Amino acid sequence: MRVFASFLLLLLVAACKPGGEGEKQAMVAPILTTEDARDAATFAQPEVARVTHVGLDLTLDFAAKRVGGTATLDILARPGADTLVLDSDGLEIASITDAEGKALPFKVGEKVEGKGEPVTVTIGDARKIVVTYSAAPEAEALQWLAPEQTAGGKQPYLFSQGQPTLNRSWIPTQDSPGIRQTWDARIVAPKPLTVVMSGLRAGEPEDLGDSRAFRFTMNKPVAPYLIAIAAGDLAFRELGPRTGVWTEPSMLDAAANELADTEKMVEAAERLYGPYRWGRYDVIVLPPSFPYGGMENPTLTFLTPTFIAGDRSLNGLVAHELAHSWSGNLVTNATWADSWLNEGITSYFENRILEELYGKRRAQQEAALSFAEIEKVLAEKGKDAPVTALHLPPAEALPDGGESGIVYDKGAAFMRTVEQAVGRTRFDAWLRQWFDSHAFQPATSALLLADMRANLINGDAALERQLMLDEWVYGTGLPANVARPAPEAFADVDAAAADYAKTRAVDPAPWAGWTTAERLRFLAKLPRRMDTQQLADLDRGLGLSQSGNDEILFAWLDLALANRYQPAVPLAEKFLGRVGRRKFVQPLFQTLMDQGDWGRPIARRLYAQTRAGYHAVTQGSVDAIVGKPA
Ligand code: BES
Ligand code: ZN
Repeated sequence: MRVFASFLLLLLVAACKPGGEGEKQAMVAPILTTEDARDAATFAQPEVARVTHVGLDLTLDFAAKRVGGTATLDILARPGADTLVLDSDGLEIASITDAEGKALPFKVGEKVEGKGEPVTVTIGDARKIVVTYSAAPEAEALQWLAPEQTAGGKQPYLFSQGQPTLNRSWIPTQDSPGIRQTWDARIVAPKPLTVVMSGLRAGEPEDLGDSRAFRFTMNKPVAPYLIAIAAGDLAFRELGPRTGVWTEPSMLDAAANELADTEKMVEAAERLYGPYRWGRYDVIVLPPSFPYGGMENPTLTFLTPTFIAGDRSLNGLVAHELAHSWSGNLVTNATWADSWLNEGITSYFENRILEELYGKRRAQQEAALSFAEIEKVLAEKGKDAPVTALHLPPAEALPDGGESGIVYDKGAAFMRTVEQAVGRTRFDAWLRQWFDSHAFQPATSALLLADMRANLINGDAALERQLMLDEWVYGTGLPANVARPAPEAFADVDAAAADYAKTRAVDPAPWAGWTTAERLRFLAKLPRRMDTQQLADLDRGLGLSQSGNDEILFAWLDLALANRYQPAVPLAEKFLGRVGRRKFVQPLFQTLMDQGDWGRPIARRLYAQTRAGYHAVTQGSVDAIVGKPA
């Protein structure tokens, strides 16, 4: 293995050598060959042969719900290697040829649940191949929306979600976060639709009569889950010199207003941890069926419209996705077992951006909300539960994402703990160094710990003992040295909630002056058992059902439904029919299903109405709770 790894390194150095063959090529990123970097979620054997560049030439067919065309793959293989293994999930492959058009034999293996099927290509000495294919109409990464499902109501819409392992349903490549690839694309879409992707636009669209061809390029090697596409009736507005927003025309004003601080966020992030390396930072505000809050697709963050609250109070989401431009997109978890390297470090970084822009108080409050999530999970699952480790054991590292906030919140708490132990100046210098030294490369937990020891601890035995690094990463629960959130962050709000628990009297005055974080904290701290009268008073006093903030609406609905509060059912029906964000939809259906004879029929009735409007990610999660409607 070791001999082989150094051979591979040689090969890579050769490929990049100035003046050598590699000079014309784009930069080739190394892979990790250590055992902890082996990705169980891919069929690829990158140490034998791997894809270094993906060239897509695809057409969008909205009537057939199909993306199809060719993918031209550049391959780096060890001498003598004559097979290449790709990931697929339902791809319909018509042919695979070499660059001259000579057919290459290939075999599609058996489907493995949750992983798709391997495509083994006999490449011989070909180092460039052309896959002619079509994605299935059910491709899990893609959601095809009918015009009625969009804000404008006139044009269809398409968007993709690649993380963690969904892109293999529309792109035939090696779909593993440790196998970085450059890519380019030419995408044909019917007029008047506009196509955007997670790479820089290359020139003006080409007019083809009834359709147009859009070109994109990503010349930095990225993990393939970061290739993303959206197409629809899209308008663009500049936010700053290198920032802007895409969305449907009727959403543009509200979106641009909510995103007004985006350029400042990029500037703050650069001050913290070094240059933004991707050129543009644009965002697209998607239709409400987007299954996540946000997705850090390079050069083009994808966002749910449910972050639009009118007052920018939920723009921490943007800070989060932007922070992934360093933690996640620049330095990337080699496997999903280490997704805390992406999400935990990003959650910490997000909080630092918020502090830069809005001050200590907001940052402390958001950190306190995040810390409360850790405590909630530990109370529910137990402090010994394997899912509460940062580095997830194989059984827990199901590459589905989002089952538990631990990798986010405990990951951020780990970073905060180290920061407070060594001081901000030293910590920031170390983190910046981490991003610089591992830029455009995969990382594992072990690599990060080794880097911390080499570049932060520097043999200081007392500091080594104090930090408890291995316990943080490989242990469950919370280590004793955890830096707890500032107790003063929510002092008044917590007092008000305690007061309410005693008196059950709603006081609208303080609520009116609270921030969104404070309101969410108050709702989280209310007694979990409430009667109909109390819920009615609470709703009337605080205007919860009328809130234009979807985080508040969600918190209210969850509380109300958990108490079988019938008057909230029509609002739940409206909310679940409008929003497909899994973080909201899954818990609400779970809460209903937990309410026995009262809630189960409601859940089944609503899901039968709403399921068709959800993305496959949300459908899959809710199917597991409610069951597939007949
Ligand atoms: N990268 C994640 C989304 C993701 C995670 C997709 C795992 C698939 C699998 C994204 O950056 C994210 O964390 N989104 C959060 C928002 C954030 C503010 C916590 C979300 O969608 O809620
Ligand atoms: Zn994230």
